[in-house]
Amino acid sequence: MLARTVTHALVGLDARRVEVEAHLQRGVPAFTIVGLADRACQEAKERVRSGIASAELEWPVRRITVNLAPAGLRKEGSGFDLPIALALLAASRQIPADRLAGHAAIGELALDGRVRPVTGTLAAAEGAQRAGLTKLLCAVDSAHEAALAGVEPVPLRHLAEAVAYLRGESEQPPYVAPANGRPAGPAFPDLADVRGQERARRALEIAAAGSHNLLLGGPPGTGKTMLARRLPGILPPLSDDEALEVTRIHSVTGLLRPGHPLVTEPPFRAPHHSASAAAIVGGGPGPRPGEASLAHRDVLLLDELAEFVRPALEALHQPLEDGAVSVARAGGQAVFPARF
Ligand SMILES: Nc1ncnc2c1ncn2[C@@H]1O[C@H](COP(=O)(O)OP(=O)(O)OP(=O)(O)O)[C@@H](O)[C@H]1O
Ligand SMILES: [Mg+2]
Repeated sequence: MLARTVTHALVGLDARRVEVEAHLQRGVPAFTIVGLADRACQEAKERVRSGIASAELEWPVRRITVNLAPAGLRKEGSGFDLPIALALLAASRQIPADRLAGHAAIGELALDGRVRPVTGTLAAAEGAQRAGLTKLLCAVDSAHEAALAGVEPVPLRHLAEAVAYLRGESEQPPYVAPANGRPAGPAFPDLADVRGQERARRALEIAAAGSHNLLLGGPPGTGKTMLARRLPGILPPLSDDEALEVTRIHSVTGLLRPGHPLVTEPPFRAPHHSASAAAIVGGGPGPRPGEASLAHRDVLLLDELAEFVRPALEALHQPLEDGAVSVARAGGQAVFPARF
């Protein structure tokens, strides 16, 4: 018995389609996941097993093989739990396999069967949208990311809700768009707090108006840090396209705040001077975006510039020139926008 569901794996900020195939055979009961799955992905076994039991469904006592295709693509994270569980349930005829057509799924399972949000749902939903899938089964808290990508979310609290919906026993769980409340009050310190410093303030205004880089130098205690921290406050709000770009980066790194699905305020980043080159421009096996990309469309403040390690400063050369960082790792090559 074979069934499949569709989900997405992240390569940088890009979602690649992944088919989760579950195959049940007679034989000694076992559960294997193949297809370049990392640790978190392998641990899905335990979460899926407990999740299915908690939803009062039947664990298929069979030789179970789950294949994440294409096998050459590295799969990271816990977002495969839900699609794996659904493929298993479809393969064991507990949900009708044909109902899964047109759906993608993403989400982590808690041991009690609750569906948890995962990072990068926005990118995954955009992948689903490009592939012509119309619905995304995901956690309630990431439903807005699906909606932003133009895919209809099927918001789930529990695996049992997914099963009831796919069996046609219950209506599609309703999606209520959160009001994207703008943060109350000025989020940033005000330039009006600064006394004097006419030239430095003018320099800040010119840098803000023309998106220029700015180097502040001077004796200790003359207000350099104070001035630099007030730059975000005089920047214009993000346009809709920019907001989506920034939201995509923040979604992948798990920085989205609940209740604020869309990042509308420019993101201000001030990494400590002990930061490594990978922390600044991105890296890791995944790879993941760094501070330069988290500050995309806004301010990257390197306070005490001279104290930063040389490789970190040199790594900033490419984003300063191209407005993007390309990182090549074992997990694949990724291009992160980094126009700060
Ligand atoms: N022009 C100014 N107007 C108002 N307050 C100021 C001004 N310059 C300095 N200050 C006060 O001095 C404090 C120290 O300034 P700040 O930390 O910005 O100096 P700095 O130039 O970054 O020093 P360092 O080189 O030691 O990092 C500020 O928090 C502020 O309270
Ligand atoms: Mg300072």
